[in-house]
Amino acid sequence: MTSSSSIVMDGLTKRFGQLTALDHLDLKLEGSKCVGFLGPNGAGKTTALKLLSDMIFPTEGECFINGISVQEERKKALAEVGLLIETPEIYPSLTPREALGMIADLRGVPHSEWNARIETVLSEVKMMEWADKKVGSFSKGMKQRINIAASLVHDPEIVILDEPATGLDPRGMAEVRDIVRSLKKRNRLIFMSSHILQEVTDVCDEIALIDKGKLLLYDTLANTIARFSDAGAQSTVDAGLSRPLDSQGEGKLKTSGDIVSFESVEPTRLRITFKGGMKGQEKLLQSLVAMDIGIVSLSGRANALEDIYLQQIGRGD
Ligand SMILES: Nc1ncnc2c1ncn2[C@@H]1O[C@H](COP(=O)(O)OP(=O)(O)O)[C@@H](O)[C@H]1O
Ligand SMILES: [Mg+2]
Repeated sequence: MTSSSSIVMDGLTKRFGQLTALDHLDLKLEGSKCVGFLGPNGAGKTTALKLLSDMIFPTEGECFINGISVQEERKKALAEVGLLIETPEIYPSLTPREALGMIADLRGVPHSEWNARIETVLSEVKMMEWADKKVGSFSKGMKQRINIAASLVHDPEIVILDEPATGLDPRGMAEVRDIVRSLKKRNRLIFMSSHILQEVTDVCDEIALIDKGKLLLYDTLANTIARFSDAGAQSTVDAGLSRPLDSQGEGKLKTSGDIVSFESVEPTRLRITFKGGMKGQEKLLQSLVAMDIGIVSLSGRANALEDIYLQQIGRGD
């Protein structure tokens, strides 16, 4: 049993002229799990992943893979890493088997193991039956699955994927998400960036949220969702009443601390805006019942996490 895999970013900073793309990022990932690296476009995700894989050099700070400095011992540090960052297109007249053979060669996989490795990774990305067809005829999603296979060909214990599903059609996205989910089963540490919250919540165990080059939080998926839900966002739902609202009921609604605003859309239907996400909705329902205004139903649900995430990072409306 080897010691568990780790990725460490230590005060990692990258400036491009006046712009600080990454600002003293400290992050330690350890174990076999999938960590989502979430943030809007321009947040600094790709910059961080390029620093991790020594494609660019930090202005300050350092990163370590399995305890080995990427900046000082590149080759040794990256030996156990599979990478999907700005991968160039596979030459269209090659087949996956040929392309993966070339990559296995580059990665130093012994020739005797090529066939077995190629078959394994092609089945991991569900592309076995395409092994000997030319890549030029593949859809974008299929090409991306081959790119993922390429990152796995030397059987790395750490896999770094930069927005693997971005730019694909919905079906391609779903397939790539499925594959990333299945990669977890192999005791790997997966670090996947995405600007789409849904993608990260679908696939990952933990979320590292980054914006403007700074880490905003790193926590488990469940804790992150709870935090988003209580982040001061607002949601709107409709409440059904058994009788029209009287002035007494109106007074109760007006003095309730959780309710931001309300209007009668029908005599027995109220549209209520309140603070928070799902947690807020739970509280709202309890206080509506306690008000004794004849509440019989609540329709609609608190804001989707996606909206709250956008509000959190100040990109919502
Ligand atoms: N080579 C570069 N030269 C100048 N600015 C860059 C370069 N690479 C990235 N940036 C800038 O750094 C910021 C972070 O970019 P990036 O890491 O690509 O963000 P993300 O991957 O989260 O979308 C952006 O403002 C981007 O324009
Ligand atoms: Mg990027």
